[in-house]
Amino acid sequence: MAATLLDGIRIANEIKNEVAEEAGRLSETGLRPGLAAVLVGSNPASEIYVRSKVQTCQALGLYSEKITPPEFSTTAELLELVHDLNARDEIDGILVQLPLPPQVDSKKVLLAVLPEKDVDGFHPMNVGFLSTQRPGLVPCTPAGIMEMLRRSNIPLQGADAVVVGRSDIVGKPMAMLLTNANATVTICHSKTRDLPGVCHRADILVAAMGRTGFVTRAFVKPGATVIDVGMNKITTREEFDKYFKGNEKREQAFAKNGYTLIGDVHPEVAEVAGALTPVPGGVGPLTIAMLMANTLKAAKLRRGARFQSPAMAERG
Ligand code: GUN
Repeated sequence: MAATLLDGIRIANEIKNEVAEEAGRLSETGLRPGLAAVLVGSNPASEIYVRSKVQTCQALGLYSEKITPPEFSTTAELLELVHDLNARDEIDGILVQLPLPPQVDSKKVLLAVLPEKDVDGFHPMNVGFLSTQRPGLVPCTPAGIMEMLRRSNIPLQGADAVVVGRSDIVGKPMAMLLTNANATVTICHSKTRDLPGVCHRADILVAAMGRTGFVTRAFVKPGATVIDVGMNKITTREEFDKYFKGNEKREQAFAKNGYTLIGDVHPEVAEVAGALTPVPGGVGPLTIAMLMANTLKAAKLRRGARFQSPAMAERG
Protein backbone atom coordinates (compact mmCIF):
# COMPACT_ATOMS: atom_id res chain seq x y z
CA MET A 1 0.00 0.00 0.00
CA ALA A 2 1.29 3.46 -0.85
CA ALA A 3 2.41 5.75 1.98
CA THR A 4 0.13 8.49 3.29
CA LEU A 5 1.61 11.79 2.14
CA LEU A 6 2.11 14.29 4.98
CA ASP A 7 0.92 17.59 3.54
CA GLY A 8 3.37 20.28 4.65
CA ILE A 9 1.50 23.04 2.84
CA ARG A 10 -1.73 22.33 4.71
CA ILE A 11 -0.03 22.11 8.11
CA ALA A 12 2.07 25.23 7.41
CA ASN A 13 -1.15 27.09 6.57
CA GLU A 14 -2.72 26.00 9.85
CA ILE A 15 0.29 27.30 11.78
CA LYS A 16 0.44 30.55 9.80
CA ASN A 17 -3.26 31.18 10.42
CA GLU A 18 -2.71 30.72 14.15
CA VAL A 19 0.27 33.09 14.08
CA ALA A 20 -1.63 35.71 12.05
CA GLU A 21 -4.53 35.60 14.47
CA GLU A 22 -2.38 36.03 17.52
CA ALA A 23 -0.07 38.60 15.93
CA GLY A 24 -3.22 40.58 15.08
CA ARG A 25 -4.28 40.56 18.73
CA LEU A 26 -0.79 41.64 19.86
CA SER A 27 -0.65 44.38 17.24
CA GLU A 28 -3.92 45.82 18.58
CA THR A 29 -2.08 46.42 21.85
CA GLY A 30 0.69 48.24 19.96
CA LEU A 31 3.13 45.31 19.99
CA ARG A 32 3.55 44.34 16.37
CA PRO A 33 6.08 41.50 16.12
CA GLY A 34 8.99 42.38 13.82
CA LEU A 35 11.62 40.37 11.95
CA ALA A 36 14.89 41.59 10.45
CA ALA A 37 16.29 39.31 7.75
CA VAL A 38 19.95 39.86 6.88
CA LEU A 39 21.03 38.68 3.44
CA VAL A 40 24.72 39.22 2.68
CA GLY A 41 25.68 39.31 -1.01
CA SER A 42 23.73 37.57 -3.76
CA ASN A 43 23.46 33.82 -3.30
CA PRO A 44 20.49 32.98 -5.61
CA ALA A 45 18.99 30.31 -3.32
CA SER A 46 19.35 32.57 -0.26
CA GLU A 47 17.67 35.43 -2.15
CA ILE A 48 14.65 33.24 -2.86
CA TYR A 49 14.45 32.03 0.77
CA VAL A 50 14.74 35.53 2.25
CA ARG A 51 12.18 36.98 -0.18
CA SER A 52 9.76 34.25 0.81
CA LYS A 53 10.36 34.89 4.54
CA VAL A 54 9.73 38.63 4.17
CA GLN A 55 6.62 38.08 2.02
CA THR A 56 5.22 35.65 4.58
CA CYS A 57 5.72 38.25 7.34
CA GLN A 58 3.73 40.73 5.27
CA ALA A 59 0.96 38.22 4.61
CA LEU A 60 0.64 37.46 8.34
CA GLY A 61 0.73 41.08 9.52
CA LEU A 62 4.23 40.94 11.03
CA TYR A 63 6.62 43.85 10.56
CA SER A 64 9.68 42.89 8.51
CA GLU A 65 12.86 44.41 7.21
CA LYS A 66 15.25 42.99 4.67
CA ILE A 67 18.82 44.19 5.12
CA THR A 68 21.28 43.47 2.32
CA PRO A 69 24.92 44.20 3.18
CA PRO A 70 27.34 43.85 0.23
CA GLU A 71 29.08 40.57 -0.68
CA PHE A 72 32.44 41.80 0.64
CA SER A 73 31.24 42.84 4.08
CA THR A 74 33.68 42.10 6.90
CA THR A 75 32.95 40.27 10.12
CA ALA A 76 33.33 43.58 12.00
CA GLU A 77 30.76 45.31 9.78
CA LEU A 78 28.24 42.51 10.26
CA LEU A 79 28.83 42.51 14.01
CA GLU A 80 28.03 46.22 14.08
CA LEU A 81 24.84 45.60 12.09
CA VAL A 82 23.74 42.82 14.47
CA HIS A 83 24.46 45.04 17.48
CA ASP A 84 22.26 47.78 15.98
CA LEU A 85 19.42 45.28 15.42
CA ASN A 86 19.85 43.91 18.95
CA ALA A 87 19.29 47.44 20.28
CA ARG A 88 16.13 48.21 18.26
CA ASP A 89 12.96 47.63 20.24
CA GLU A 90 10.67 47.07 17.24
CA ILE A 91 12.84 44.16 16.05
CA ASP A 92 11.89 40.94 17.86
CA GLY A 93 13.65 38.47 15.60
CA ILE A 94 16.98 38.61 13.77
CA LEU A 95 17.72 36.11 11.04
CA VAL A 96 21.14 36.02 9.39
CA GLN A 97 20.73 33.94 6.26
CA LEU A 98 23.38 31.26 5.81
CA PRO A 99 25.75 30.58 4.20
CA LEU A 100 27.70 33.79 4.79
CA PRO A 101 30.56 34.66 2.37
CA PRO A 102 33.88 32.90 3.13
CA GLN A 103 35.67 35.97 4.56
CA VAL A 104 33.06 36.24 7.33
CA ASP A 105 33.40 34.39 10.65
CA SER A 106 29.85 32.98 10.72
CA LYS A 107 30.08 31.62 14.25
CA LYS A 108 31.10 35.02 15.60
CA VAL A 109 28.20 36.73 13.82
CA LEU A 110 25.63 34.18 15.03
CA LEU A 111 27.00 34.46 18.57
CA ALA A 112 26.39 38.22 18.49
CA VAL A 113 22.62 37.85 17.96
CA LEU A 114 20.85 38.32 21.29
CA PRO A 115 19.52 34.87 22.34
CA GLU A 116 16.03 36.34 22.86
CA LYS A 117 16.00 37.62 19.26
CA ASP A 118 17.59 34.46 17.79
CA VAL A 119 14.59 33.19 15.79
CA ASP A 120 16.77 30.59 14.03
CA GLY A 121 17.62 29.02 17.41
CA PHE A 122 21.31 28.84 16.46
CA HIS A 123 22.79 30.69 19.47
CA PRO A 124 24.61 28.36 21.91
CA MET A 125 22.35 29.67 24.67
CA ASN A 126 19.25 28.43 22.79
CA VAL A 127 21.03 25.16 21.93
CA GLY A 128 21.65 24.72 25.67
CA PHE A 129 18.05 25.61 26.53
CA LEU A 130 16.84 22.92 24.12
CA SER A 131 19.21 20.29 25.44
CA THR A 132 18.17 21.01 29.05
CA GLN A 133 14.45 21.30 28.25
CA ARG A 134 14.11 24.96 29.12
CA PRO A 135 11.89 27.40 27.19
CA GLY A 136 13.74 28.99 24.30
CA LEU A 137 13.84 29.41 20.54
CA VAL A 138 14.12 26.16 18.58
CA PRO A 139 15.56 25.86 15.03
CA CYS A 140 12.72 26.20 12.52
CA THR A 141 13.08 23.06 10.38
CA PRO A 142 13.21 20.52 13.24
CA ALA A 143 10.53 22.45 15.14
CA GLY A 144 8.34 22.28 12.02
CA ILE A 145 8.91 18.53 11.72
CA MET A 146 7.80 18.08 15.35
CA GLU A 147 4.64 20.09 14.59
CA MET A 148 3.99 17.91 11.55
CA LEU A 149 4.41 14.69 13.56
CA ARG A 150 2.20 16.01 16.36
CA ARG A 151 -0.56 17.28 14.07
CA SER A 152 -0.48 13.99 12.11
CA ASN A 153 -0.90 11.98 15.35
CA ILE A 154 2.30 10.01 14.86
CA PRO A 155 3.26 8.54 18.24
CA LEU A 156 6.77 9.35 19.49
CA GLN A 157 6.87 7.93 23.00
CA GLY A 158 9.08 4.84 22.98
CA ALA A 159 9.38 4.94 19.18
CA ASP A 160 12.71 4.15 17.51
CA ALA A 161 13.78 7.30 15.67
CA VAL A 162 16.80 7.49 13.38
CA VAL A 163 18.15 10.85 12.19
CA VAL A 164 20.55 10.71 9.25
CA GLY A 165 22.69 13.85 9.24
CA ARG A 166 24.28 15.68 12.18
CA SER A 167 24.16 19.34 11.17
CA ASP A 168 23.75 22.06 13.79
CA ILE A 169 20.71 23.38 11.88
CA VAL A 170 18.72 20.16 11.42
CA GLY A 171 20.21 16.83 12.55
CA LYS A 172 21.36 17.67 16.08
CA PRO A 173 18.34 19.74 17.18
CA MET A 174 16.03 17.16 15.55
CA ALA A 175 17.62 14.39 17.63
CA MET A 176 17.28 16.53 20.76
CA LEU A 177 13.59 17.28 20.14
CA LEU A 178 12.81 13.61 19.50
CA THR A 179 14.72 12.64 22.64
CA ASN A 180 12.77 15.23 24.66
CA ALA A 181 9.57 13.66 23.24
CA ASN A 182 10.65 10.27 24.66
CA ALA A 183 11.68 8.61 21.40
CA THR A 184 14.77 6.37 21.38
CA VAL A 185 17.07 8.26 19.04
CA THR A 186 20.04 7.23 16.90
CA ILE A 187 22.04 9.83 14.95
CA CYS A 188 23.74 8.54 11.80
CA HIS A 189 26.27 10.15 9.49
CA SER A 190 28.70 9.40 6.66
CA LYS A 191 30.88 7.18 8.86
CA THR A 192 28.03 5.06 10.26
CA ARG A 193 28.54 1.33 9.73
CA ASP A 194 25.63 -0.51 8.05
CA LEU A 195 23.54 2.61 7.49
CA PRO A 196 20.67 0.74 5.75
CA GLY A 197 20.52 -1.73 8.65
CA VAL A 198 20.41 1.00 11.31
CA CYS A 199 17.78 2.97 9.38
CA HIS A 200 15.68 -0.14 8.88
CA ARG A 201 15.04 -0.30 12.63
CA ALA A 202 13.38 3.13 12.61
CA ASP A 203 9.71 3.78 13.25
CA ILE A 204 10.54 7.38 12.36
CA LEU A 205 13.31 8.03 9.88
CA VAL A 206 14.53 11.59 9.27
CA ALA A 207 16.71 12.01 6.18
CA ALA A 208 18.76 15.20 6.40
CA MET A 209 22.11 14.51 4.79
CA GLY A 210 21.75 16.40 1.49
CA ARG A 211 22.27 13.47 -0.90
CA THR A 212 19.87 13.04 -3.80
CA GLY A 213 17.53 10.05 -3.44
CA PHE A 214 19.99 8.31 -1.11
CA VAL A 215 17.44 6.63 1.16
CA THR A 216 16.10 3.69 -0.84
CA ARG A 217 13.56 0.99 -0.07
CA ALA A 218 16.27 -1.09 1.65
CA PHE A 219 16.58 1.58 4.39
CA VAL A 220 12.92 1.61 5.34
CA LYS A 221 10.93 -0.66 7.62
CA PRO A 222 7.47 -1.28 6.13
CA GLY A 223 5.00 1.16 7.65
CA ALA A 224 7.66 3.58 9.00
CA THR A 225 7.19 7.34 8.96
CA VAL A 226 9.81 8.91 6.69
CA ILE A 227 10.62 12.63 6.90
CA ASP A 228 12.57 13.97 3.94
CA VAL A 229 14.47 17.18 4.70
CA GLY A 230 16.48 17.09 1.45
CA MET A 231 16.05 19.66 -1.29
CA ASN A 232 18.08 18.78 -4.37
CA LYS A 233 17.69 19.84 -7.99
CA ILE A 234 17.54 17.40 -10.89
CA THR A 235 18.53 19.07 -14.14
CA THR A 236 19.56 16.27 -16.52
CA ARG A 237 17.36 13.85 -18.43
CA GLU A 238 19.49 10.93 -17.30
CA GLU A 239 18.95 11.73 -13.63
CA PHE A 240 15.29 12.51 -14.25
CA ASP A 241 14.71 9.08 -15.78
CA LYS A 242 16.56 7.40 -12.91
CA TYR A 243 14.04 8.71 -10.37
CA PHE A 244 10.88 9.82 -12.17
CA LYS A 245 10.55 7.90 -15.47
CA GLY A 246 6.86 7.58 -16.36
CA ASN A 247 5.73 10.21 -13.81
CA GLU A 248 3.51 12.53 -15.91
CA LYS A 249 3.24 15.35 -13.39
CA ARG A 250 6.99 15.49 -12.85
CA GLU A 251 7.55 15.30 -16.59
CA GLN A 252 5.44 18.41 -17.13
CA ALA A 253 7.23 20.37 -14.39
CA PHE A 254 10.62 19.27 -15.70
CA ALA A 255 9.74 20.33 -19.27
CA LYS A 256 8.39 23.70 -18.08
CA ASN A 257 11.12 24.68 -15.58
CA GLY A 258 14.14 22.69 -16.79
CA TYR A 259 14.48 21.10 -13.35
CA THR A 260 12.56 19.26 -10.71
CA LEU A 261 13.15 19.02 -6.96
CA ILE A 262 13.93 15.78 -5.20
CA GLY A 263 14.72 15.07 -1.55
CA ASP A 264 17.20 12.71 0.10
CA VAL A 265 14.61 9.94 -0.15
CA HIS A 266 14.19 7.84 -3.29
CA PRO A 267 10.62 7.96 -4.71
CA GLU A 268 10.38 4.14 -4.43
CA VAL A 269 10.15 4.58 -0.63
CA ALA A 270 6.51 5.63 -1.09
CA GLU A 271 5.79 1.94 -1.75
CA VAL A 272 7.01 0.78 1.69
CA ALA A 273 6.68 3.72 4.11
CA GLY A 274 3.51 4.19 6.16
CA ALA A 275 3.75 7.99 5.92
CA LEU A 276 6.08 10.18 3.91
CA THR A 277 6.74 13.90 3.40
CA PRO A 278 6.75 14.89 -0.28
CA VAL A 279 9.40 17.11 -1.88
CA PRO A 280 8.38 19.77 -2.65
CA GLY A 281 5.46 20.47 -0.31
CA GLY A 282 6.60 18.58 2.78
CA VAL A 283 9.11 19.97 5.28
CA GLY A 284 9.99 23.13 3.28
CA PRO A 285 6.78 25.12 3.94
CA LEU A 286 6.98 24.27 7.65
CA THR A 287 10.37 25.93 8.05
CA ILE A 288 8.96 29.33 7.11
CA ALA A 289 5.79 28.80 9.15
CA MET A 290 7.92 28.07 12.23
CA LEU A 291 10.07 31.13 11.58
CA MET A 292 6.87 33.17 11.82
CA ALA A 293 5.88 31.28 14.98
CA ASN A 294 9.35 31.91 16.45
CA THR A 295 9.12 35.63 15.67
CA LEU A 296 5.79 35.81 17.50
CA LYS A 297 7.23 33.72 20.33
CA ALA A 298 10.28 36.02 20.59
CA ALA A 299 8.02 39.08 20.69
CA LYS A 300 5.98 37.60 23.50
CA LEU A 301 8.92 36.28 25.52
CA ARG A 302 10.86 39.53 25.24
CA ARG A 303 7.89 41.77 25.90
CA GLY A 304 6.66 39.66 28.78
CA ALA A 305 3.39 38.40 27.27
CA ARG A 306 2.15 34.91 27.98
CA PHE A 307 1.86 32.16 25.38
CA GLN A 308 -1.45 30.92 24.10
CA SER A 309 -0.93 29.41 20.68
CA PRO A 310 -0.91 25.58 20.68
CA ALA A 311 1.81 25.67 18.00
CA MET A 312 4.17 27.12 20.55
CA ALA A 313 2.80 26.15 23.92
CA GLU A 314 3.86 22.61 23.06
CA ARG A 315 7.45 23.70 22.72
CA GLY A 316 7.69 25.68 25.95
N1 GUN B 1 20.23 28.53 5.32
C1 GUN B 1 19.66 27.33 5.11
N2 GUN B 1 18.73 27.06 6.06
C2 GUN B 1 18.73 28.13 6.89
C3 GUN B 1 17.98 28.45 8.05
O1 GUN B 1 17.13 27.71 8.55
N3 GUN B 1 18.26 29.66 8.61
C4 GUN B 1 19.19 30.50 8.10
N4 GUN B 1 19.42 31.66 8.72
N5 GUN B 1 19.90 30.22 7.03
C5 GUN B 1 19.67 29.05 6.42
